[in-house]
Amino acid sequence: MQVILQNCDAVDISWLHDFLAIHGLGELPESKGVPVGHEGLVLVATKGGLSLSAATDLQTSPTRVDFLAGSLRHRLATSSRHEGLPKAAGLDKAREPLHVLDATAGLGIDAFQLAAMGCHVTLLENSPVMAALLADGLRRGRIAGGADTRAALDRMALHAVEARDWFMQLRDEQRPDVIYLDPMFPPRQKSAKVKKDMALMQRFLPPNEDIDELISQARQQARKRVVLKRPGKVDRKALPKPDFQVPGKACHFQVFLCN
Ligand SMILES: C[S@@+](CC[C@H](N)C(=O)[O-])C[C@H]1O[C@@H](n2cnc3c(N)ncnc32)[C@H](O)[C@@H]1O
Repeated sequence: MQVILQNCDAVDISWLHDFLAIHGLGELPESKGVPVGHEGLVLVATKGGLSLSAATDLQTSPTRVDFLAGSLRHRLATSSRHEGLPKAAGLDKAREPLHVLDATAGLGIDAFQLAAMGCHVTLLENSPVMAALLADGLRRGRIAGGADTRAALDRMALHAVEARDWFMQLRDEQRPDVIYLDPMFPPRQKSAKVKKDMALMQRFLPPNEDIDELISQARQQARKRVVLKRPGKVDRKALPKPDFQVPGKACHFQVFLCN
């Protein structure tokens, strides 16, 4: 799906061009308005940052990475190390800060939750558009965030790469304690309430056909465990068989322990 870059306020987005060039992500075609008939996506640059919309639906609130959002603050304030993702990642028992590799970073929400709880998080994202949104969110958060937010963001490092390539070139000293996978699943027919951001992502990001391969590679690289997020309730028949599962909100986490 074609993505155009719209810079209506003529803001300085040299950082974005540098980011795309450094990561070998090519150039996005730039336009002042949305060309008639464009049915793809529009990455809109404004003074408030980057956001993504479907060209046919520009009125709906756009998707952006906002580490200062009230909803995210609420999630952090109400989350505990003893449930959901933090528990699945082993934060309930960890004595020292963990290094987590979030191999499917997306909008960085899960990564930020773990970083806010003290983890050092390496984020991998293979979509240039998602990586650009993430880079923008990290950049703005580091400028405008309070001390706690900035400290969490400073524990996050983004790499715009394919996870399978990253796993192949990992040196022993770079191996993380935990590898977290939250892949794209095919849209579920029964699930009418897919969140707006996920619905947009499903329009241009393919479902992961490589989940088994990702799990298998991740299990060879993680020092302690691999955590796989899956939709719906805990799945007792899951294959490959996890060591245990942790329920979450409208999802669950399958945990594979490493020796
Ligand atoms: C469901 S989203 C992750 C959402 C994320 N957990 C969050 O909190 O925002 C999956 C993301 O993983 C990325 N992705 C999928 N397969 C990947 C791979 N093999 N390597 C790197 N990124 C991948 C997709 O582009 C997408 O942005």
